[in-house]
Amino acid sequence: MTHTRRHFLTTGLALGTTIHSLRADSNSPMSKPLIVSTWPFGKPGNDKALETLNNKGSLLDAVEQGIRLVESDEKNRSVGISGLPNAAGVVQQDSCIMSGPGHDAGSVAAIEGILHPISAARRVMEKTPHVMLVGDGARHFAIKEGLESVEVNSREFHEKWHKKQAEPAPTKLPKDNHDTVALLVLDAEGNIAGGCSTSGWGGKLPGRVGDSPIIGSGLYVDNEVGAAGATGLGENMMRYCASFMVVEYMRQGLHPEEACLKTIERIAATDPKSAEDLHLNFVALDKKGRFGAAGTGSGFQYSVTTPDSSRVLTGANFTDKDIGPEGGNTK
Ligand code: GLY
Repeated sequence: MTHTRRHFLTTGLALGTTIHSLRADSNSPMSKPLIVSTWPFGKPGNDKALETLNNKGSLLDAVEQGIRLVESDEKNRSVGISGLPNAAGVVQQDSCIMSGPGHDAGSVAAIEGILHPISAARRVMEKTPHVMLVGDGARHFAIKEGLESVEVNSREFHEKWHKKQAEPAPTKLPKDNHDTVALLVLDAEGNIAGGCSTSGWGGKLPGRVGDSPIIGSGLYVDNEVGAAGATGLGENMMRYCASFMVVEYMRQGLHPEEACLKTIERIAATDPKSAEDLHLNFVALDKKGRFGAAGTGSGFQYSVTTPDSSRVLTGANFTDKDIGPEGGNTK
């Protein structure tokens, strides 16, 4: 029995027929557009992305508008300007966007006081010859582009955002300190794009950049194959080009859920940390309209939206038990 099948049976047994029908669903092409994002807080973003497409917005408009909605949620403490601050008490956000057609990408990292980093990332992609801007340069570029900003040293900023952040910052991942919105879109023409956005790890060192703005780590799109996005502990994604790896496994023919599991398996087989301590979670979709997700814990939920339905589902759960005694996989 392959480990993926065992996972499926395990989660299927735990969650009854829902998972059975989910897997059956995701094995057959879904109706398009198909939008997949991380966590339940991605679902309103998915709905916004679908609405954007229905209103004749472009594929990139759908990604941008979907993520902007999540960034706007003042209750969200891990995405947007209301996210967790770094060790100096400042929110530094990371974001990227990638377009399958043309294989373009843009990103911003450690950007301060910008309400919609995803829009800044899109403008880096579309209006500069660069892929990534960081820190003050990214902030100045976003302001020059007319994006909404707050003066980071202003009284308003401190009263509105720092007061909120004075609540104790959770330090543990992933349950109370998650995390990134990664949102993937397959449109009716079969083109793929994605984006992600996060305030990153609460209490991080100032200047720390996570996986989310790093193309291939927090997000990767290949228009001929599919797309993957990550949420969890960025340091452990970045050391393995994790989202790129998921897409490469799909290129080899794996179902998106299997590709997510195989990536976790490969990282866990190499890394000295236990799978549970790696905090890796992935969502993926492929060109055929199949989707899947997996994480190194039981609690990874993700959102899937098509013209027929918009749902929160539970990703497959990878555990150390799935790696053989010699560190090899159990296939
Ligand atoms: N995955 C988000 C971060 O580590 O910053």
